[in-house]
Parts: sequence; C-alpha cells; structure tokens
Amino acid sequence: MSLALFGMDGFLLLLRWFHFFFGVIWIGHLYYFNFTQGPFFNETDGTTKSNVIQKLVPRALWWFRWGAMVTMITGLLILQVRGHRDGMGIFATSWGVSILTGAVLGLLMWANVWFVIWPAQKRVIQSATQVASGGQPLPDAAALGARAGVASRTNTLFSIPMLFFMGSASHLPISMGLEPSFGALAAVIGVILLALELNAIKGKLGPMASVKGVIHMGFLLTAVLYLAMELLTK
Ligand code: HEM
Repeated sequence: MSLALFGMDGFLLLLRWFHFFFGVIWIGHLYYFNFTQGPFFNETDGTTKSNVIQKLVPRALWWFRWGAMVTMITGLLILQVRGHRDGMGIFATSWGVSILTGAVLGLLMWANVWFVIWPAQKRVIQSATQVASGGQPLPDAAALGARAGVASRTNTLFSIPMLFFMGSASHLPISMGLEPSFGALAAVIGVILLALELNAIKGKLGPMASVKGVIHMGFLLTAVLYLAMELLTK
C-alpha cells in the first residue's frame, strides 16, 4: 500500500499544515494583543498593567514572534517547492498573483514583528520591570510602546487582505486576459503597501486607533487590492 502522505503532494500538505498551524498561533496572538489586551490596558489600574507586562506579555510575545517565524519559513518553502515542481510560470497565474500578494503582506508583517514590535516591546518590558523594583522608567519606553502599537495595528490591517489572498489563491480563480498588466499591478500594490508600511515605521494610528476602525480599514484595503487585481489582469 502506498501512502499519499509520503509522496510530493503529502510533503506539500505537511508544509501547508504546519504553515497554517503556526499562522493561527501568530495571528491569534496578534488579535489577542489588538482586540483584547489593548482595550483591557485602557481601563485597568497601573499595578495590574505592570504585572501583565512583566509576566503575561513576554510569554505571549514568545509564541507571537516564533509563530511568525515558522509561518514565514514554511510559506517561503511552499513557494520554493511549488516553483521548482510546477515551473516559475505558476507565478503568472491567478494562483501566483494572489499568493504573491498574500505573501508580500505576510512578509511585511513578519518584518514588523521582528524589527519593530519585538525590539520595542523588549524595552517596554525592561522598563516596567525596572519600575516594579523601585527604579526609573526607561526614557524611550513610552515612545517605543507607541511605535509598537502603530506597527501592531498595521499588521492587524494587513492580516485581513493577507488571509483573503492566501485563501483565494486556490479557491477563487481570477480570469486572466491575454495581456495582463503585471507591472502596473505590482506598482499599484507596491505603492499602497509601501505607504502603509512607512506609516507603520514613522506615522500615526489615524483611523486604526479603534478596533472597529482597523477592521473597517482592513476590509477596505482588501476591496481595493482585489479590484486592482481584477482590473489589471484582464
Ligand atoms: C509570512 C509570509 C507568508 C508566506 C510567504 C505564505 C505563503 C503561502 C503559500 C505559498 C501558500 C500556498 C500553498 C499552496 O497552495 O500550495 C499559502 C497558503 C496559505 N497560507 Fe500562507 N503565507 C504566509 C503567511 C500566512 C499567514 C500569517 C497565515 C495565517 C494563518 C497563512 C495562512 C495560509 C492558508 C490558510 C493558506 C491556504 C492553503 C490552501 O488553500 O491550500 N499564511 N501561504
């Protein structure tokens, strides 16, 4: 008896399975931080907040950042294996356009986790620990906490179209015209995402300040990217 799981399709399935298992760990923690912990911090007392920052947040951040790392590695591995097996032409298909859009969003999110949110949160935790043992807060902790907040909200914003395109790649084929404008599509998506990423690094929360606001913006961004894809691939 030959088991399908031990063939190439099985290997790809195992990669995909790990990919969304760790994806759920990552995005689940992202939504916990944004939808649950943030509003709780706005109304809790200083001692509780300090305890949560010292004892709960480091644990949640561990699962969050390593979940992001394994999701990213398995995602890139799937891209590599599929490109190798099916030929680079698959990236010019409906599947390829959707998956690359989702992957770019996911990679920006991964970079925000490892290069903005985690370094900033380390200082915030260090500062809270110092204050709890009678010391002074670190002078840059408040600004870094706010920066991590904007990056985290941007990741929540990106996660909504990211999940749409990750899922639509195999399950919502887009009909392509004879001469799709891939260059124009890449430029439109690139400019929009670059502007939002620059805002994550330097800008403000704007309409993403509330949970409702970031969810609405996420659906709007998904609609804009989807329409650009439909219009520019005809
Ligand atoms: C970090 C960057 C990411 C990259 C490079 C990436 C890459 C990929 C690739 C290449 C596939 C296609 C699998 C296939 O059809 O063979 C895929 C599918 C998928 N990914 Fe991601 N991904 C990323 C992030 C995420 C995240 C954060 C999640 C959250 C759960 C996620 C969830 C999924 C799901 C549910 C599928 C659908 C599988 C299917 O329909 O067969 N991905 N991803």
